[in-house]
Amino acid sequence: MLFNRLLAAVPALFIAMGAHAQANWPTKPVTLVVPFAAGGPTDVVARSLGASMSKTLGQTVVVENKLGAGGTVGATYVAKQAAPDGYTFFIHHNGMATSTALYRKLAYDPLKDFEYVTQAVDVPMTLLARKDFPARDLKELIAYVKANKDKVNLATAGLGAVSQLCGLMLQRALDVNLTEVPFQGTAPAMNALLGGQVDILCDQTTQTIPQIKAGNVKFYGVTTKSRIKALPDAPTLHEQGLKDFEVVVWHGIYAPKGTPRPIVDRMNAAVRAALKDPDVMKRMADLGAEIVPDAKLTSEGLQTWLKSEIDRWGPVIRASGKFAD
Ligand code: MLT
Repeated sequence: MLFNRLLAAVPALFIAMGAHAQANWPTKPVTLVVPFAAGGPTDVVARSLGASMSKTLGQTVVVENKLGAGGTVGATYVAKQAAPDGYTFFIHHNGMATSTALYRKLAYDPLKDFEYVTQAVDVPMTLLARKDFPARDLKELIAYVKANKDKVNLATAGLGAVSQLCGLMLQRALDVNLTEVPFQGTAPAMNALLGGQVDILCDQTTQTIPQIKAGNVKFYGVTTKSRIKALPDAPTLHEQGLKDFEVVVWHGIYAPKGTPRPIVDRMNAAVRAALKDPDVMKRMADLGAEIVPDAKLTSEGLQTWLKSEIDRWGPVIRASGKFAD
């Protein structure tokens, strides 16, 4: 009898313990998984936000780089291995949507296997070549690539990376099929470009602005429809004749499925606070990143946006014929 009563009380005890853990969260460092190399564009955003969020949360936000397969290794880890206890979060970009079309077998479902914290920043891309590439402007680049399509190579961060997506659109616009050289992020891809080992790279302003300003690379334009404040003199690819060429990199923050909603909400509030931190705002503005409007900083907004991006990019990618198993 007594045993039965004790047994009946167990679920209530676990609920009470769970509620206590949620109310005290976080009591130890929080990990933010980045699916690309340290020092690259996603890492730069994660570390900026993380440093500010550490102040709000009262615990360090530790960035952990889990690399490989265009971001899908990190996503798989968060979806399938990480505990939904509020101590692992994940930042990813458009690749969360594009991977569904790029990979025939994906170990996770982006729309089912995560909790959705919020969007954060939008980042333009820039089209670059190694410094000694023999094309001074976009017109010359187009002519050179078309004439040398068997020789020119394109650095990317693998299938699922935005550098690959942008490169895919460039190849489509120029009607060429270039050799793609994959890296585990655009930080190592940029090193290869600076070292002259690869020819072309389409990469985010969060990494490229310092290299463009230092004159270390050839720069042909930005991938937004309008010019951007951080590079006001730089023409868009669209205005130079690549009609409707547009790639904007959006970022979402996720948690493993089953992470308690009160923790997801508190993480959402911490990201919002970071995006209003003057240091973060300045760093993002200097690097061309745009903080998304408050209305987009919601869990539901991210999930809806992700679905719309899967619908948008699926046909473009399937038409390209470039897939991974
Ligand atoms: C990175 O952080 O290395 C990039 O976001 C990779 C990419 O998607 O091009």
